[in-house]
Amino acid sequence: MMRGRTIWWEEGGVGLIEQTLLPEEYREVVCSDVHRLVQAIQRLEVRGAPALGVAGAYGVALACKIALEGPRDAFSRSVNEAAAMLRSARPTAVNLAWGVDRVLSVVLQESDPAEAAARALTCAESIADEDEETCRRIGSHGAKLLPDDCTVLTHCNAGALACAAWGTALGVIRSAVEAGKNVRVISCETRPLLQGSRLTAWELSRDGIPVTTIIDSEAAYLMQRGEIDCVIVGADRICTDGVFNKIGTYMHAVSASYHQIPFYVAAPRSTFDPMHRMVDIIVEERGREEIASLFGRTTVPDAVPVVNYAFDKTPFSLVTAIITEEGLIQKPFDHPWLMP
Ligand code: MRU
Repeated sequence: MMRGRTIWWEEGGVGLIEQTLLPEEYREVVCSDVHRLVQAIQRLEVRGAPALGVAGAYGVALACKIALEGPRDAFSRSVNEAAAMLRSARPTAVNLAWGVDRVLSVVLQESDPAEAAARALTCAESIADEDEETCRRIGSHGAKLLPDDCTVLTHCNAGALACAAWGTALGVIRSAVEAGKNVRVISCETRPLLQGSRLTAWELSRDGIPVTTIIDSEAAYLMQRGEIDCVIVGADRICTDGVFNKIGTYMHAVSASYHQIPFYVAAPRSTFDPMHRMVDIIVEERGREEIASLFGRTTVPDAVPVVNYAFDKTPFSLVTAIITEEGLIQKPFDHPWLMP
């Protein structure tokens, strides 16, 4: 049975739902040191931009707890080293560095290690609480955009599993359902790691929200058939000129624009990066094995290279609106959150 949160603090360290095992198995794991948490982030046991923000925050609190056991004069150095490791665990989602830096700044203001560790944990807990509250506010702003009876296409997992709870894109859907709307969801499977078919379908079906999974390349055809009313996705980083999200998002945005279907991005302020244009950002490239094997079988000849970008860039020209906790951001996208 899933608890109220995707990621949490407990006596032994940072607890999380091991997402690579879903939907076959629901398992909770506890990361009792920062190396294990970094591994969990890199293996996508915990993933999704806001959840990574919370993971980064709890990670610094964990580093403080461990550093308290070492020499007092090494406290700051070891917490700083752990923070650097966490920050660079995955490069694209800005929330990870945001969560790490927010807790680290609290730690650096305090000279007493025990006090710094206590304040780090309080700060991390409030980041997790705020995340849930923020998602609910995104949800209530976004729910107003949905027709009373509609079919929404989404990509990857921008749900409760990608946040502390509730979700961003799926938070909009949950809030619309809570408001009495009749919402059906088309969940793109999201090759290669299937966050859409494994995770989005899992969490929505558990909530009793009608969800159907399609292969990614089926989306444009459903749009052509008039079966999609709008697209809602999450974001990993929103730069001054567009949005990074899971690979495949751009293709849905292009198709939605061609078919004149609204394309919404749901994201909290912590996903905004007003200091960068999209060209400045490193897009995570992942391993060959994610593409070249499936269910234990080789699917690409050994001599053939693969390219495995984890995220793509959607320019604002293809985005109808960004749904945030403070309301909508729309063309011409000159909102203060997007100003350097
Ligand atoms: O590689 P992942 O699973 O971390 O990618 C996640 C996504 O692309 C999500 O859509 C994004 O982080 C938004 S989550 C609210």
